[in-house]
This record gives sequence, C-alpha cells and structure tokens, in this order.
Amino acid sequence: MLTHPKWNSPRASGKHHLLGLLLRIYLPTFPILKYTWPKNSTGALGQRYVFVSCDNVFGFINRPIQTLQLQRIGSQPNNTSNNNMPSWLITGTSRGIGFSIVGDLLKDEDNFVIATARDISAKGLKELAAKYPKTRLALVELDVTDVTSIKKAAEEVTTLLPNGLDYLINNAGISPQPMTSFEDLDLKLFADELSFNTITVIQVTSAFLPLVKKSAVKKIIFITSVLGSLELGGSWPFISNSYSISKAALNMLARKWGAVLKHEGVTVALIHPGWVQTDLGDDIKGWMETYAKNVPQISTAQSSAGVVAVAKNVTIDSTASFYNYDGSKLPF
Ligand SMILES: NC(=O)c1ccc[n+]([C@@H]2O[C@H](COP(=O)([O-])OP(=O)(O)OC[C@H]3O[C@@H](n4cnc5c(N)ncnc54)[C@H](OP(=O)(O)O)[C@@H]3O)[C@@H](O)[C@H]2O)c1
Repeated sequence: MLTHPKWNSPRASGKHHLLGLLLRIYLPTFPILKYTWPKNSTGALGQRYVFVSCDNVFGFINRPIQTLQLQRIGSQPNNTSNNNMPSWLITGTSRGIGFSIVGDLLKDEDNFVIATARDISAKGLKELAAKYPKTRLALVELDVTDVTSIKKAAEEVTTLLPNGLDYLINNAGISPQPMTSFEDLDLKLFADELSFNTITVIQVTSAFLPLVKKSAVKKIIFITSVLGSLELGGSWPFISNSYSISKAALNMLARKWGAVLKHEGVTVALIHPGWVQTDLGDDIKGWMETYAKNVPQISTAQSSAGVVAVAKNVTIDSTASFYNYDGSKLPF
C-alpha cells in the first residue's frame, strides 16, 4: 500500500477536492475494490494505481484525496515481467549457491528473478522454468567471460526490465587450483582466475549498471570469500592461493567502485556466503577438516537465505562493506 506522491502536492489540493466530488458521484456505481483511477493512467514512476480503500466510504468524500490508499498494480501487464516487483539478476545459477539463491527468491511471490547461466538448459533451471511463470522467472544465457554473451544478455534484460534492475548479484565463481602451492601454480589458469574476479566482474557489472541505476532499489552484490580477507584468509597456509588473491582483488574492486557508486545512490556489498556444500566448497574439504575443524560446512539453502537477507538489509550508509552470510561484518 502506498500513497501516490502526486497527491502530496499542495498545488494539487483544489483539483483533488473536485475529484472527491466526482468520486462521490461515480464511486457508488463501481465495486470499491476494483475501482481504478484514472483509467489507463500512469503515475510518477510509470506505475498504475488501483484504489483499494479509504477510512470509510462515507467519511472520505470531504477529506483531501491524498489520504486515500492506492496500490500499485503494474504498468505493463502484457510484459513478461511485472515491473513493480523487486527484480533480481544472479550470475552463475546453473548449480551451487547461485541456483539456491534463485529458488529462495522465487518463494517470495513479490520477486521477479532473472537467472543467468552459461547453460540455461541445466536440469534444475529447467525444472524451475516449468514450475514458475514467465512473470516470475526469466532464464537468460550469460557466460560472464564472453563479451558478446554479456552484451546479448544485457540487451535481453533491458527489454524485460524497462523500470530497471533492483538487485544485481555477481555470484559466478571458479577456483581451478584450490590446493596448489605457489611454486606449482599454472600461471595461465591463475591469470584466468584473476581476470574472472576483476576484468570479468567489471564487464558484467558495467553492462547492467545503467539498469541498476534506473531501478528503485539500486543494489549490487559481489559474492566474495573470507579467503580474500587479508586479515583472515591471508594467514591461512596451503589453501586456495590463487583464489584468495583474486577474491582480495575483487574486494578492493567493490570497495573502490562502491565509493564512486555511493554518489549515484547505488549500494554495494561484498558477501562471503559461508563454507558451503557445493562443488567449489567440497574442493577444500580436506583442508577445512584438518585446519578449521570448528567451521561447519553449511547447506546451499542456509547460505542463500543468508545472502538474500544481507542483500535486502544493506543500506547506502554502510555501502562497500564486507559481510558474512549471517550479516556480521568481516575485516578486509
Ligand atoms: N562454496 C563455498 O564454500 C564458497 C565459499 C566462499 C565463496 N564462494 C563463492 O560463491 C560463489 C558461488 O560458488 P559455488 O560454491 O556455488 O560454486 P559452484 O557450485 O562451483 O558453482 C559455480 C557457478 O558459477 C558458474 N560459472 C562458472 N564459470 C562461469 C562463466 N564463465 N559464466 C557464467 N557462469 C559461470 C557455474 O556455471 P557452470 O555450471 O556453467 O560451470 C556455476 O553455476 C562463487 O563466487 C564462489 O567463489 C563459495
């Protein structure tokens, strides 16, 4: 429920008294809960409103119209998305944490979810597409390392979301050499990994940034790792050398970019999703069981619930902070 901002204008009050009079004449002929005014009109944010209630039918007619309760009903009912729903785009959703984030978001019928993946015919995604209508879920092909794919995806998403993208979640991740010593690192793979968490993230985020800026919520989430924390991960021996360096670079990227984006009203957050039961998480099981016995490996459901909650709760005041999936802050 909201009050249309237009109704708060003192300039418009005389007009609204006249409207009150007209409504007094016409309203009784319409079922109150279905009454839409003005017909086919759009509001300041390109939204249409339905009149749903007032304090009492007989009392309202002599009151300023701005006290009426109006509810958004969507500006483009024929579109594949309802543009008044919070919109989310997640990268790397074929499996793991990204897939679980999509499932979580879909449980809330307020959300419109764009699940992107290199392969959108992945089994889980296909099942979700069969379960949810196109007004709730769109599958968009996106290989984050391929500029042509990024461009195509951004074009596709732009047509889906004329009112912008509320939440962009950069989740796709790789860790090709989790337990390799510095001396034995394949440096080509290392360069690819470094690029994945820096250049690629800049390319993907830049492609969707105009849409994020256009939205109401304006949030960009970077899924990182505590292994990229200089203070914490920096002192853990043997584990994820190249991965830790690339995530540390991602952390600085988000921090620096966040400082700029703050001036444009865009909130940025870095989130460590926990140590999670995924292909990537399982690769460090041996090390965790030896060196971090007290750290439980959490389910994808636990992780994604935390990530979504943090994404919703972060505010521009604490932009570019580094969070654990439970909402606590982590040191850089
Ligand atoms: N699991 C953990 O314990 C843990 C801990 C800390 C941080 N993280 C971070 O959490 C995020 C998700 O990791 P995860 O554990 O869910 O990993 P995962 O199970 O290995 O899944 C990785 C996801 O990234 C996608 N991906 C890889 N390369 C891609 C590309 N070029 N374009 C688009 N998508 C691509 C994969 O798609 P394909 O199926 O096509 O390969 C897959 O959907 C990553 O950023 C990771 O670094 C994970």
